[in-house]
Amino acid sequence: MSVQEEIKRLTAPDILARKGGEPIVVLTSYHAHTARLVDKYCDVILVGDSLGMVMHGLETTVPVTLEMMILQGHAVMRGSKHALVVIDMPFGSYEASKEQAFLSASRVMKETGCGAIKVEGGRRLAETVAFLTERGVPVMGHIGLTPQSINTIGSFRAQGREEKDWARIEDDAKAVADAGAFSIVVEAVAEPLARKISEQVAVPTIGIGASVACDGQVLVLEDMLGLSPRVPKFVKRYGNIGPGIEAAVADYAKDVRSRAFPGPENVYPMKKK
Ligand code: KIV
Repeated sequence: MSVQEEIKRLTAPDILARKGGEPIVVLTSYHAHTARLVDKYCDVILVGDSLGMVMHGLETTVPVTLEMMILQGHAVMRGSKHALVVIDMPFGSYEASKEQAFLSASRVMKETGCGAIKVEGGRRLAETVAFLTERGVPVMGHIGLTPQSINTIGSFRAQGREEKDWARIEDDAKAVADAGAFSIVVEAVAEPLARKISEQVAVPTIGIGASVACDGQVLVLEDMLGLSPRVPKFVKRYGNIGPGIEAAVADYAKDVRSRAFPGPENVYPMKKK
């Protein structure tokens, strides 16, 4: 008998089967400890390339590398045991060709043990999504606002603001779903468009700033905890731990400076002779 504890994680097919059912709960995590905390409540943990902005203070996700994603992916896999862990493919690691995408995605899956990867893009990526899924790589799509394209779109603003732009975004969703993605992140689109997309595709839509008309929701953990200095307007704050951390650090600094910091004598009391 194996001495290893059996780990029964959710899988990409489990998430696909939730289309139109109980809403899918997704949060980002990049660390073992936060992964352990969110794992209890989430169906999917996304190791998003937002880690470049959230952890490293970068202005965009463009500089994030495959090595950064693999390192944090390892940490999240170690910290979790129930949720499906999905790792973002960073900018430049999958767009050149479907073969490049497979090499990068298979490396991420082999080195981290994660259950799926995510790529940004619609119709232009359909062939790649099909190539990956046919070869054993479960793919989460990402349409609407795709932050890795910041340098061509100009700003992180809502997509499909005018009805004339909806057809292109709907077509992106259909192309990625038909190519075999098991779910699709729909970012920063208005409710009527999110509703249309969710009705038209046979796979779960995971909204971020895309209203309640999706099959699930994803937020960046640090944004909803009140730890990120700048957050998109649509983010509901479920906590405010930034000021709590600052107050604790201020207390610690005061203790150290006033020599009130507990010394080793409190921990290892000397025996009375
Ligand atoms: O990188 C990320 O965290 C994401 C989510 C915001 C969907 O792609």
